[in-house]
Order: sequence, then C-alpha cells, then structure tokens
Amino acid sequence: MSINETVKAAWDHLKSLPKPTLAELFAADAGRLAKLSSRLELAVVDGEEEAVGIRFDWSKTHLDDAHIAGFTALAAAMDFAGRRAALLSGDKINVTEGRAAEHTAQRGMGRDSSVEEAGALHARHRSLVEAIHAGALGEVKHLIHIGIGGSALGPALAIDALTRDGAMVDVHVVANIDGCAMEQAMAACDPATTLIAVASKTFTTIETITNAHSALNWLSAHGVEDPYGRVVALTAAPEKAVEWGVDETRILPFPESVGGRYSLWSSIGFPVAMAVGWEAFAQFLDGAAAIDHHFATTDGVDNLALRAAFADQYYTRLAGCQTRACFAYDERLALLPSYLQQLEMESNGKSVTFTGEPVDGPTAPITWGGVGTDAQHAVFQLLHQGTNIVPVDFIASIASGDDLDPAHHRILLMNCFAQGAALMAGRDAADKARAYSGNRPSATMLVDDLTPAVLGALIAFHEHRTFANAVLLGINPFDQFGVELGKQIANAIDKGGTTFDASTEALLAEAGLA
Ligand code: F6P
Repeated sequence: MSINETVKAAWDHLKSLPKPTLAELFAADAGRLAKLSSRLELAVVDGEEEAVGIRFDWSKTHLDDAHIAGFTALAAAMDFAGRRAALLSGDKINVTEGRAAEHTAQRGMGRDSSVEEAGALHARHRSLVEAIHAGALGEVKHLIHIGIGGSALGPALAIDALTRDGAMVDVHVVANIDGCAMEQAMAACDPATTLIAVASKTFTTIETITNAHSALNWLSAHGVEDPYGRVVALTAAPEKAVEWGVDETRILPFPESVGGRYSLWSSIGFPVAMAVGWEAFAQFLDGAAAIDHHFATTDGVDNLALRAAFADQYYTRLAGCQTRACFAYDERLALLPSYLQQLEMESNGKSVTFTGEPVDGPTAPITWGGVGTDAQHAVFQLLHQGTNIVPVDFIASIASGDDLDPAHHRILLMNCFAQGAALMAGRDAADKARAYSGNRPSATMLVDDLTPAVLGALIAFHEHRTFANAVLLGINPFDQFGVELGKQIANAIDKGGTTFDASTEALLAEAGLA
C-alpha cells in the first residue's frame, strides 16, 4: 500500500469503530483512569530542588483501546516519530517557508548550534534585564510593551498569570492599532520613568510601528530628551530596528526560525523577565523544557501531547465537533484562551496538506473559552444542553492564588470538578427541558500550583499538542498565509486607485476613506 492508502485505511478504520458512551467506557475498563490520567512531575531548581507536577486527566474523553490503537496506527502512518525528530533536530519542517521551527532550542532542545545560539542570546537578554533592574537606564517604574499577535499574547498571559502579587516593573501590553489601547497605557504610566519595548519579529507590522511612533511622540511631548534612548527592540530583524532608530545595545534579537506564536521563550519574553525577574523567567523556560523532554522521549498514548491530539482528532474528525473550549478555573489564566486561539487556530487552521493537496476533512476546530466560575453563569447552558457537542478542557490549581478565606478556592475547585462530572453523567428527567443528555467530554489539567515552571509547562504542552495534531492531519502548522490577503487589501485602500466590491466601496465612502 502507498502511504496515502495506509493513511486513508487508518482513517476509514477509525471512522468504522463503535463509539461507546463515557459511562460505558468507565464501566468496561477498571484500568481506565490509570491509563488516561497521569501526573507529570516537573523538577525545577528554585534555590533548592522543588517538585511541582501537573495531572493530565483525559479519562473523560471517548478514547478507548480500539480508538487508541487506531490513532496509534495513524500516527505511525503519518511518521509521527520522524516528524517529531525533524522538529526537535532543527530540520526545515516549515516547508512552505523553507525554515526550521526552533522554539524548543530556546528551552535547550534542538540542533546544537541553535541551542548554543539561544544560550548566548539569553545571556545577553539576562544582562540587559538585570542592568535595567539595577538602574542602568535610570529609574524604570513602567514598561509599555508594544507588539501584536505572537509578540503580545504570550507576554500578556505570562505577566497577568505571574504578577498578581506584584511585579518588579509595571508592564502594560499594547497590541491594537486602535489608539484607545495606547492611550489607556499612557494614562497609567509616568513618561519620565517609562521604558518602551517594541516587539516585532519582522519589525514591519504596521500596528506595532505606528504604536511605537506614538509612544515616542508621547515621551517627547512630556519632556523626555532622548525618546529613542528609552526603547528596547525585540526582533528577528535587528537591522530594521537599527534603521528605525534603536541603538544596537538595546536590541535583543531572536532567530528567524522561532515562529511568532512560539516566540515567548525568546527575547519576546523580555517584559516577562522585567516583571518577574530573571530567575523566575528561567524557571518558566525550565518548565517548558520538562515538557519537551517528555514529548521527545515518550511514545504512543503515554505521550501527553499525542494523547490529547488523539482525543482532539476524535472530536473534530470522527464526532463532527467544530469547536473546543478551554476553561481555566483560575483567574490568573484569564488570558490563556486568547493565547491558545492564536497558537491553535493560526497553526492548524489550514485547508491544504504540507504537500499542497486539499485536506480531506476538517482541520483545527475553533478554540474558545473563558474562566470558571464566570463562564458557568454565562455559556455553560449550551455545553450541557445545547445541540453542539463541545469538548472542554478544564485547568485548575490545587494551591490557591489568593489569601482570602479558603472557602473561595474550595468553591472554585468543587465547581470545576462538578462541571466535568455533570457533563459526563447527565441526568434523566420526565420534563425534557430539565434533562441532560450527558456523555459530553472533558479533560482536566490539575496543577499543584501556578508557578512560573508550571505555566511554562502548560504552554509548551499546548505547543506540542498543536504540533501533534498537525502531524496527524498532515499539515504544516508553522506558516500563516491566511493573514496576508487582508493586509494587502488594507494597503491597497491606503494607496488608492483600486476598486473593490460595491459593499466595501460604500463603507469606505461613508467613513470618508474613499
Ligand atoms: O499577521 C499575523 C502575524 O504575522 C502573526 O503570525 C504574528 O505573531 C503577528 O502577525 C505579529 O508579527 P510581528 O511579530 O512580525 O510584528
């Protein structure tokens, strides 16, 4: 059989398998929990060795032995082991752009030369952060971090998650070109003690460059004599940052082979290190490295990212689910769903395989989510009784992040676990409006504590889960050509001389842009 025939046969087999209910699966297999719920320990050096772990419980998904065997055969047909090795050894697996995808090298795993380069860049990154903390640029109380997409979502998530008890510097992340976003940050900062970080892999993104100019004007208008002297650039195009006016000593480069939505580990993490200190940032990298090690060395369904991808494929391709939701029962992870939206939807929202053929089924589901318990009182109605089946991920921490009455955390966790149980069990009722079908899937990630290492591990787990899904689908998760057309049309509008459809022309005319 050709590879295509083997892959088709694997999918056909998967599609032909019976789909027992969750209750049936638990009843039929006493070992189910042990098989599909495992704890990963992250050993992190924090002055002394401190063990923290994460439980990954996928037992309330519909994976059973038959589907696991079927997906394992599919993974073999898609050469999962070979593609994983290619990723982790710095091969050019981003075939459409002729590049490697070397985010793991930032965490110490990859091609030797790339790991060495990442180490040198981190040393430089660390020196600048520590010098600024020590006063090399005068008093720095505030940092306005300007970037968008992958240059903003990761820093915003990590800073929000890790600085609830205070930060070494007050960071404001500004992404949107809508001036309201920049004005809000300006209003919260004192120009005399504010540093500006301009984060852009390409250093050409119009939103970021326009916001950066406005930030410089704001500094000048408030008497800062050398506004460019207050700028740090984080980029894979250092020559463009120099051209734009940033001094080389304040440019933190990162390699072209680190994708934008995978760049938090590189100098794009500068505002995180500024806010939490280098030691905590290093722990964040270590947590991700622990997941890399697990991902690189564990095979089959025991590989947590591959296991999650098996379940993801079950729901998208076998059960027709068009969305997947993530609910963090932790206020500190409020920005995780938006981070995951870019990671998963920009990576796997594709219609062709990496060889350019049309895909023969759905690719990435729509990622959405929110925080518990807020979401319970807003959108969970649909999860329990709606006509869409939505696989749900819950994330919670055993240690609480607050100092209030422990009742808060107890109620939070009880609700998290209750939702998973309710989705699975359902409830009969004579009155159909009050009945719950049950048999609705969820997975739970239960962390000991939301430390920097645990956050790094959670994010790296999702990166590898996204990659594993791409391998099973045969697509390239590392390009994003779908974002280009809109940018080109916006440029054409700016230049003038192009005629668009009647609707667009009318909107442009009404807004005075024609
Ligand atoms: O337009 C999409 C995108 O290219 C993302 O992939 C990227 O994270 C974002 O824009 C920002 O790009 P840059 O870091 O080059 O400014």
